[in-house]
Amino acid sequence: MVEISDIEQIFSEELNWIKDKNLRKKVVEVWKKASDRGGWKTLDKVPFTLLFENSGVLTDHTKRITHLAKAVMDQRDEKLNNDYLIAGALLHDVGKLLEYDVVDGKVVKGEYGKKFRHPVSGALLAKECALPDDIVLIIYAHSHEGDKCERTPESFIVHHCDFIDFHIRKSLV
Ligand SMILES: [Fe+2]
Repeated sequence: MVEISDIEQIFSEELNWIKDKNLRKKVVEVWKKASDRGGWKTLDKVPFTLLFENSGVLTDHTKRITHLAKAVMDQRDEKLNNDYLIAGALLHDVGKLLEYDVVDGKVVKGEYGKKFRHPVSGALLAKECALPDDIVLIIYAHSHEGDKCERTPESFIVHHCDFIDFHIRKSLV
């Protein structure tokens, strides 16, 4: 079972960028709930993506996106909600823990994941855990599902940072 302390350790640097301690705790809670519900014993077996081979580990991708999002945030003069941006970046792919199943030692898209892609399942879980709607939107709208949404600035940042990482990794395999 993945423990709260494991999640806090993996994302220790990024969690500290969230000023609101209660929000920081909720981000960890969502990861914990997704790990338990997805039946994961360890997070280092969860791949970034199934769309190409050897994509690496999801938590590493999550850290890269959060660092990219912070780098954009630090360059902007507009008043952005930094806590929401970092929390949204940390949670944008948490639904993958529910989207994937392990069959014969191989990670595949599960039945639930076929119905609800990770932006949807992640947003539903964040909503269930009472995260603010602006963070739920960052999760829901980070991929194509959000093309029909009115994205916020924070949501645009995570959306574009995610695709920067996806395309770079995909082009190098
Ligand atoms: Fe992602």
